[in-house]
Amino acid sequence: MDQKTATTAVKTKIGPVIFLGAPGAGKGTQAKLIMQRYGIPQISTGDLLRDNVSRGTELGKQAKAFMDKGELVPDQLVCDMVAVRLRDADCDPGFILDGFPRTVGQAEWLDGLLKGDFFQKRCSLPPVVVNFRVSYNQLLRRLTGRRTCPACGRIYNVHFQPPRVADACDVDGSKLVTRKDDSEEVIAERLKAYERQTLPLIDYYRRQGRLREVDGERAPEQVTAEAFQAIENADRV
Ligand code: AP5
Repeated sequence: MDQKTATTAVKTKIGPVIFLGAPGAGKGTQAKLIMQRYGIPQISTGDLLRDNVSRGTELGKQAKAFMDKGELVPDQLVCDMVAVRLRDADCDPGFILDGFPRTVGQAEWLDGLLKGDFFQKRCSLPPVVVNFRVSYNQLLRRLTGRRTCPACGRIYNVHFQPPRVADACDVDGSKLVTRKDDSEEVIAERLKAYERQTLPLIDYYRRQGRLREVDGERAPEQVTAEAFQAIENADRV
């Protein structure tokens, strides 16, 4: 798929899209491409939490200790944050949840929220859930090689998607940064938390008939093409 096709706007109402996948599976990379096509926002709980940490909010202070260790932030804190964000008007046509839900408790809470009056009036489409499957060794290479632009949020990888000039963002020239939790020690904890707490969501959504599997191991544009198909062909009843 070429860049033009990937970004060609689609005017249908898309509703909620949930991205599942291990740390480094490419959820953020794909969300940024897919939001352009559907004109819907990416809601990354990781980005929202990091923003709260950098602004020193009460939520950020509570979340930081968990994030630094690679553990999940308690459900209540994350759900309260998501509830506020989903009420913004830009979520009316739909939204991509990147990194949420991450526990069965969060998924049950989200099901309840989306079935409530507020969301049923805005958009009664049920969520489509896309799971990006990537092998363990590839996840490790992706996470240790990731660099991010602190200004525009663009994601790079020193092994797979390097910037044109080393350490500088192609878009705005900002110096790229390495995420604090992309150290080998914290990556190991994040992957353990994923296996213990997030993997059960695959069965949870499979039982609901909502799960769409995508091979996340291939080149980003191939993954994008498969994700578009998964979203557009999903049975939304
Ligand atoms: P979060 O920010 O959500 O991190 P994560 O889930 O660990 O996911 P990542 O952002 O690391 O990976 P990604 O799948 O988005 O991959 P990316 O596209 O960047 O969460 C951070 C922390 O916040 C958590 O540990 C937790 O403490 C807390 N938190 C967040 N949400 C929470 C929740 N709901 N509940 C509780 N706590 C929560 O890609 C990775 C790299 O691979 C990049 O370098 C990219 O360039 C490269 N890449 C991407 N696709 C490809 C490809 N197809 N081929 C080659 N390289 C690729």
